[in-house]
Amino acid sequence: MTTPFLLISRSAEFETRLRELLGGRLAVVPGAFLAFGAEATIAQVVEEPRVAFIGPVVNFDETRSVADELHARYPDVALVVVREQSSDLEDWADELQLHAVVSPLAGEDELKMFIVDVVRWLIVEGKATMDEFRPRAAGIDPHARAFAELMGIPTDPDPEPEPEPEPEPEAPAQVWEFPPLESDQRPEAFAVVAPKGGQGKTTVSINLAAGLARIAPNSVVLVDADTQFGDITAALDLRPEGTIVEATSDAASDELILKTTLTHHRGDFFVVASAPSPELGDAIRPEALGRLIEQLRGIFRYVVVDTTPGLGEQTLTVIEHVTDAVFVANLGVPALRALRTELEMLRTIGLLPANRRIVVNQSEKNVGITVKDAEQIIGAPVGVEVPRSSAVVLAGNRGVPLIDDDPRDAAARAMMTLVTQIAPEAKSRSARKARR
Ligand SMILES: Nc1ncnc2c1ncn2[C@@H]1O[C@H](COP(=O)(O)OP(=O)(O)OP(=O)(O)O)[C@@H](O)[C@H]1O
Ligand SMILES: [Mg+2]
Repeated sequence: MTTPFLLISRSAEFETRLRELLGGRLAVVPGAFLAFGAEATIAQVVEEPRVAFIGPVVNFDETRSVADELHARYPDVALVVVREQSSDLEDWADELQLHAVVSPLAGEDELKMFIVDVVRWLIVEGKATMDEFRPRAAGIDPHARAFAELMGIPTDPDPEPEPEPEPEPEAPAQVWEFPPLESDQRPEAFAVVAPKGGQGKTTVSINLAAGLARIAPNSVVLVDADTQFGDITAALDLRPEGTIVEATSDAASDELILKTTLTHHRGDFFVVASAPSPELGDAIRPEALGRLIEQLRGIFRYVVVDTTPGLGEQTLTVIEHVTDAVFVANLGVPALRALRTELEMLRTIGLLPANRRIVVNQSEKNVGITVKDAEQIIGAPVGVEVPRSSAVVLAGNRGVPLIDDDPRDAAARAMMTLVTQIAPEAKSRSARKARR
């Protein structure tokens, strides 16, 4: 497909603006054809459109008949009306089966983001594939290349590449790079789990991901699989492009589409953002969650998964698909007993991951229970003890990982100990830094 976008409009000015953005990807049927009826107008369309813009300067009846005709011929097309906000717009949207409305006065960036949203919607709904928007011979059409960059899709190589006069030092086809997995790098996937809520899973997950990203920038993904009350999006102050709901949709079994659902964090890691509501999160099928983790393990060196407390079906599926588990418990008898039961239960059903670490969180002196006592109760050694610290709460309120917000804090240092236990390179790196 070479022209997935279609414009039917009487405004030469809007046509020029859309052409600026979409270049050769846009087919145009001049509004003059509307005088001969919708059928005659749509007969001018050569290639099946994916997104059709109708307007501006196309009246209600014309829009209705064109929309009906397009729907009948191309059921999966996204219909966009280009029209200024006005009081009757709701009637248009109700009566015309429109998918979106955009103002002809929208600025360039707004228009760009609007188009990206419509395309993403089509892909997530399974009405189109990323391939259909991939420009061919992108080297020839700068607009097509710009659009590909915007969408983060790699462009096809030019079928007859022109000789390059100068080697270009930089021209990334994607906004964010996913460094390729090297053959000696075994991808590691961590489930951060706890039998009870509020023990510090999310805090540990975020800091583990942020710490691993220091040694493997952009090779780490943090997944908010606490599908009901996941709060990583808020805790990291993210404005996500997509969430775990889209990442586990059927459409996302395509790796390119999966990548469009990821959100980049400025600490050089990616995030599969929290579900937008408990209902949507609850509806995620465990198998889809398992598939997501497997897919991410094919892309990233480290996958860190925050989970729902307890051993529900989703969390069990997560545990089934990881290499390591990090168990988190507070230094209190009920939490430690619950952890012992959880470990026993996982062992009984044969799901205890080969590598496990126990983090005792929010430890305090003089509460009558020591880490040694904790090990007795759990029946397993404790890897890291993270003290209770107000810096944790402050970092959470600022939307910044603790290890970045207050690296000298004792809880932050304990989080880094966990990171170096997992990836010893992190230690030599910080030692080198200290020596310098
Ligand atoms: N070491 C710590 N010191 C002080 N406060 C902490 C510490 N660890 C976590 N907290 C605070 O305890 C609360 C619960 O932590 P967190 O959200 O990480 O737990 P969780 O296990 O993910 O909880 P949930 O089960 O609700 O998802 C948060 O307000 C967090 O800021
Ligand atoms: Mg949590």
